[in-house]
Amino acid sequence: MVSNGVADEEWAVRAVREAVPRRLLMCRPQFFDVTYSINPWMDPQKPTDTAASLRQWEELRELYVSLGHTVEVIEPIEGLPDMVFAANGATVVDGKVLGARFRHRERTAEGPAYLDWFERNGYREILWPEFINEGEGDYLRVGRRILAGTGFRTDPRSHAEAQEFLGLPVIGLTLVNPDFYHLDTALAVLSPTEIMYYPPAFTPGSRAVLQEMFPDAILATDEDAAVFGLNAFSDGLNVLLPQAATGLIEKLKDRGFHPIGVELGELLKAGGSVKCCTLVL
Ligand code: ARG
Repeated sequence: MVSNGVADEEWAVRAVREAVPRRLLMCRPQFFDVTYSINPWMDPQKPTDTAASLRQWEELRELYVSLGHTVEVIEPIEGLPDMVFAANGATVVDGKVLGARFRHRERTAEGPAYLDWFERNGYREILWPEFINEGEGDYLRVGRRILAGTGFRTDPRSHAEAQEFLGLPVIGLTLVNPDFYHLDTALAVLSPTEIMYYPPAFTPGSRAVLQEMFPDAILATDEDAAVFGLNAFSDGLNVLLPQAATGLIEKLKDRGFHPIGVELGELLKAGGSVKCCTLVL
């Protein structure tokens, strides 16, 4: 198969992949439920199974540990069912913590709850933001640049605030499909220079920017995007993603990555999966 002129077999040969151990923050879905709807995946009428969500989450946590990553956990708070989606809790770059300010009142209390964890865990450079931003749901670091989503949750004015505080170039990208309301539902960072994404989730201008910056990116099909295949975590070698994203799993193998399919069907009822559960510290 040929993508942008480079045969995939060639990628596998050229790329020497190495896993970089990470420190991750997660939140056990003890109080997980779908009691309100703030994205098209959430249907409060549909039953949820807290025990199953805990099992699936625990498997993900153990998988991270078995791959050599360090997992910190934050205490879940009753009445905050979406707190399991730790990615939204803040954005951490070089030890600096940009707090999250949520778009919906159902989640606003999570912002201070996460910042409190950072204060108690020795982080000194913390900014309580002026503008709405949903943390690493919309801010994805790729090498020494930050890709920043807007369109549904994060206020575009937050992008300038983040750039000033974090001191890395912030590239704004606009999302247009409500099913892919956070950047991490439509785009995943694979290495300091590689990404995969779903073009129809973006405006034509943002698509052109992505094409310009990452001409060799892996592109997701409708099928892979629909099972949340882009909600993935990569350590540079291992890529953890929803197991139903079979097309992406093949493409990742072709590029020399080690994809690992994960089952997080319970959390998908709230519109979240692997990456949403993971805040990279
Ligand atoms: N129910 C949550 C919301 O709509 C899901 C958050 C998913 N998190 C993410 N990083 N995409 O806010």
